[in-house]
Amino acid sequence: MRQVTLIPGDGIGPEITEAVKAVFRAANVPVTWEEENAGQTTFDSVGELIPQTLIDSLNKNKVALKGPITTPVGKGFKSVNVQLRQMFDLYANIRPAKTTPGITSRFENVNLVLFRENTEGLYSGLEIFDERLQIADSISRVTRVGCEKIVRAAFEYAKKHNCGKITVAHKANILKNAGALLLRVAAEVAKDYPTVQMEDKIIDNMCMQLVMKPEQFKVIVTTNLFGDILSDLCAGLVGGLGVVAGANIGDDIAIFEAVHGSAPDIAGKGIANPTALLRSAIMMLHHIDLKEEANRIEAALEATLANKEECTGDLGGKASTMAFAQNIISKL
Ligand code: NAI
Ligand code: MG
Repeated sequence: MRQVTLIPGDGIGPEITEAVKAVFRAANVPVTWEEENAGQTTFDSVGELIPQTLIDSLNKNKVALKGPITTPVGKGFKSVNVQLRQMFDLYANIRPAKTTPGITSRFENVNLVLFRENTEGLYSGLEIFDERLQIADSISRVTRVGCEKIVRAAFEYAKKHNCGKITVAHKANILKNAGALLLRVAAEVAKDYPTVQMEDKIIDNMCMQLVMKPEQFKVIVTTNLFGDILSDLCAGLVGGLGVVAGANIGDDIAIFEAVHGSAPDIAGKGIANPTALLRSAIMMLHHIDLKEEANRIEAALEATLANKEECTGDLGGKASTMAFAQNIISKL
């Protein structure tokens, strides 16, 4: 048995984590969950957003599945998601987007993986506000070390999966420092990967290209904020936030979570789509070398997704979160 940390999270988090747990149980996956929460709920009960017990659990288990955590707009609440990524140096945020038979999309052959730098850039937390002058600074700090780690992760992936091409998305023309460093480092690293062709696109054009002709992209690598925005855009290309998974990977620890947030608009109604979290859990199974279990669950999921009737409302079906999970279980 492999022990994994489970962070249920806020909003729809507990509902979709229950669904994933049910599927894992039915598939006899040799994983036991160590449940440790973070965010507002733990702040209210133990006075900490990220309790020491969660930190200990992550250091011990090395792998976690995480539900979304709400970050209120305004002062005084630093994003728990960003803090966890920085605390454990989970520098690579890997977000695949692929069209799936049965899921409505404007496209047929999208199959790309986004590598988002996950600890630096505009998410560095270097925030200054001058009350008197009413001047706001959000500083984008990008380091050579940080760029090299995310770029190498992307090139390694492209090489391993014979992707042939990598696209660096940036704004180096305007952001002369923080924007240009990633591009410069990528051009250097590219020399080590002769089988992978590197191209670069300015982020505005990148957005247009993605919505018009997404099939042309295989692996995209970009800085933190652009990656955050592009990954929701890519979700929109392949069926929405209900279906796209993600992984936050460091050299030591990995946290798997959906791209989406806590979805307060549908929380508590039992209608959220657990696919995104389940796909993240499947990525996790590959990471811990439970490939057979990963493939079996994926096959049952894909078979369920092929039939709209059996899916949740965001995919055009009428099933509740748990009914959808049951439909997957019946195909295991
Ligand atoms: P969101 O991703 O929670 O929701 C955007 C839209 O997508 C909503 O209409 C929602 O109902 C829908 N949606 C999302 N997940 C879905 C699912 N599994 N099934 C069906 N529909 C789904 O983004 P929003 O509303 O901008 O953010 C809400 C909160 O989540 C914020 O506090 C934000 O900071 C936080 N957040 C947390 C993340 C994380 O924990 N990694 C990531 C993104 C946002
Ligand atoms: Mg986001």
